[in-house]
Amino acid sequence: MADLPSASPDLDETATRRDFLFLATGAFGIVGAAAAIVPLVSQLEPDASTIAAGGPIDIDLKSVAPGQMIIVRWRSRPVFIVNRPAKLLAALQSQPLVALLSDPNSQNHQQPEYAANWHRSINPEYGVLVGICTHLGCIPEFFPNPSATTPTNAWPGGYFCPCHGSKYDLAGRVFKGVPAPYNLPVPPYCFVNATTLRIGENPPGSDYDFDSIVQL
Ligand code: FES
Repeated sequence: MADLPSASPDLDETATRRDFLFLATGAFGIVGAAAAIVPLVSQLEPDASTIAAGGPIDIDLKSVAPGQMIIVRWRSRPVFIVNRPAKLLAALQSQPLVALLSDPNSQNHQQPEYAANWHRSINPEYGVLVGICTHLGCIPEFFPNPSATTPTNAWPGGYFCPCHGSKYDLAGRVFKGVPAPYNLPVPPYCFVNATTLRIGENPPGSDYDFDSIVQL
């Protein structure tokens, strides 16, 4: 395991979104100063050539404690896997929170049909998100706990992008009034069994193509 992430490259006003995505990818592996420290898990990942080819990777969910998140690489991108206990799931459904979100029911095509719901997942307990901000491509930081002041005032818990202040909840749903226009993407994934998640492969009957989403 290695500590991970958070990317907050300086903003060059002339930078394109592609430039930003490159910078964010290059910064993958830097530890955020204030965000929760997140382990990068690799024990079940296949060899480097399989990862480079975008092949499926298996994750042992026993490594993700309730309320915690791990990050794995898939297609060279960070994928957030968060264990959301009942208390967090209840918070995701609270009407005061939902009223602050741009797309609370996943109507924009940023996820497979099997995750087009309020929790944006197959099993509500586990969130699976590509950790690339839909504004300019930074890696959002994990601040799971509500706070009066950190990383912003009246923080409800979720992901905060330090680049320009975009906010997402723990289902990757973007808040209104921030630069990011869409929810965080959901990759293709399925459950091999109750404790093994496979990223890069759809459940039987789905032909979801990750390249078809609106915004990476
Ligand atoms: S890249 Fe600008 S807010 Fe995330």
